[in-house]
Amino acid sequence: MKQIVRGLAVAAALALPGLAMANGSPQVKAAMTSAGCFVCHAVNHKVVGPAYSWVAYVFAHKPGAKVMLAHKIISGGAGRWNAWTGGMAMIPHPQLTLAQAEQMASWVLAQKPVAPPKP
Ligand code: HEC
Repeated sequence: MKQIVRGLAVAAALALPGLAMANGSPQVKAAMTSAGCFVCHAVNHKVVGPAYSWVAYVFAHKPGAKVMLAHKIISGGAGRWNAWTGGMAMIPHPQLTLAQAEQMASWVLAQKPVAPPKP
């Protein structure tokens, strides 16, 4: 019995983060709203910056993507999405800690991936 209970606890611990990852955490989305991310981004279409679903498509399975994107969120910059954005730069977000930016990068990577359309 103890064994079964422990097994269930492990299964729940493994399943819960998986569920939370399905669309990213609502707390992180709220933090992104107050940081102004959705002024320039939407999940499913380009605003000033690329759709988050495109970012998820390009990076979801790349090792190190979360940390790389977190640094880009903090430092800002242009380059990767120029063909879609006309060369617009993301403003830097120096007020964010690396941990906060990593949570935001994870939220972006948890969106349903969509291949970017031809620019
Ligand atoms: C002033 C508009 C603007 C704001 C505000 C903004 N972004 Fe961006 N973001 C951009 C642009 C433009 C790009 C494309 C940069 C490029 O071409 O390399 C981008 C790219 C990105 C990328 C992909 C980076 C890459 O190298 O592929 C992520 C992830 C991202 N933004 C997340 C965020 C988050 C999280 C916030 C809020 C903290 C945010 N952005 C706020 C304009 C913005």
